[in-house]
Amino acid sequence: MSDAVPPALARIETTETTSVTTVTVTFVTNAMKAVTAPRNSNLLRISLREQGGIPFKCGGGLCGTCRCRIELGRENTDSVKPKERRHLTEADLAAGYRMACQTFVNGDVAVSWVPRDLAGGNAARS
Ligand code: FES
Repeated sequence: MSDAVPPALARIETTETTSVTTVTVTFVTNAMKAVTAPRNSNLLRISLREQGGIPFKCGGGLCGTCRCRIELGRENTDSVKPKERRHLTEADLAAGYRMACQTFVNGDVAVSWVPRDLAGGNAARS
């Protein structure tokens, strides 16, 4: 099934959302780098602060560059914003895709993305 948890993620435990003051974010595409952040932090801000590696341009929900997939802990993210719906279909949302700049985390998550050099568009021009 497509919802099967990849073996590399199976060892990550997510935390219930009620009493934690910090959350753990695992950047799957960045060699499973795991960092902690205050609860209800913005996912892109965490990535920027901790060099998580989620691609971005505008930081304001306009460009769509920060498209990512919440691999684990979808229940630990806040509600989808209208700006996200401009870039993500219902199928994308159902599959766990979010825009990192519009997403806040209130519990542990694991996030992946398509590296920019594989995503087309801004592929290397050198
Ligand atoms: S960085 Fe542009 S939409 Fe998130």
